[in-house]
Amino acid sequence: MGVAIVTGASSGIGAALCRAFRNQGHFVVGLSRRDAPDADEHEVCDVSDRASVAAAAARILERHPQIAILVNNAGIPARGGFTDIDEDRIEVVTATNYLGSVWVFRAFEAALGRGSHVVNVVSVAGTVAAGPYSAAKHAQLAFSRSLAVELAPRGISVLTVNPGYVETDGFPQRGRHGLFDRIVVDPPLVAEKILEGIAKEKREMFVPGWYRPAAWIQALAPATVARLRGRRAHA
Ligand SMILES: NC(=O)c1ccc[n+]([C@@H]2O[C@H](COP(=O)([O-])OP(=O)(O)OC[C@H]3O[C@@H](n4cnc5c(N)ncnc54)[C@H](OP(=O)(O)O)[C@@H]3O)[C@@H](O)[C@H]2O)c1
Repeated sequence: MGVAIVTGASSGIGAALCRAFRNQGHFVVGLSRRDAPDADEHEVCDVSDRASVAAAAARILERHPQIAILVNNAGIPARGGFTDIDEDRIEVVTATNYLGSVWVFRAFEAALGRGSHVVNVVSVAGTVAAGPYSAAKHAQLAFSRSLAVELAPRGISVLTVNPGYVETDGFPQRGRHGLFDRIVVDPPLVAEKILEGIAKEKREMFVPGWYRPAAWIQALAPATVARLRGRRAHA
């Protein structure tokens, strides 16, 4: 057991992950703008701001020069499409959900040794195209998959996690999906699956697993998906 760094530790999936890692015996350092009471230590950090990430990482690495697990989980929603979302929101969702993962990885890279793990909490939305949030998640997915290749020779594993609907403060889901409301899960399930994925050295997972076909359909038949979804939007 070693030190686990979790971004977005103040709420939702990140807070559940802090509790799960601590239960496993890890020492958890949480990064977020608000306090993270579920972590052993907390550093204020805005992942979209390179200077803030560098400063937080420098403080943490002075105390903990070796990191066992780094989780890029911080993220914000951006409901809507490219034709209606405010431009500032498009910029901030990209800076947080995609670039935030890149800056945090780069800041902690030197402390990741052989046998360590990087976990990127992406989304099913990173595999099915639907607006600026989804575009930022597509970029984060490409980052995560690229990193898995780049870090393999150094014995560092990279796990990409694609959750479906999870009930959290930032992403309230229940009551929004009609009959599909029952498919909404809670953060502890996602945390449990992530721990399982790390233990089994998985590379990529959907939570729950049955979201995976949605990604296959989008990848195999993008024109049909665009036609059908366009027709539905028109109707
Ligand atoms: N909930 C879902 O349905 C769902 C589905 C798929 C993927 N995800 C992904 O899961 C991850 C966690 O989301 P969640 O559902 O647990 O939402 P949440 O409860 O709102 O938690 C989001 C966390 O991200 C942190 N955060 C946001 N912007 C930040 C920034 N600029 N710098 C540092 N931390 C920041 C927040 O902390 P502060 O506000 O304190 O900074 C908070 O701790 C996100 O990447 C999200 O895209 C969620």
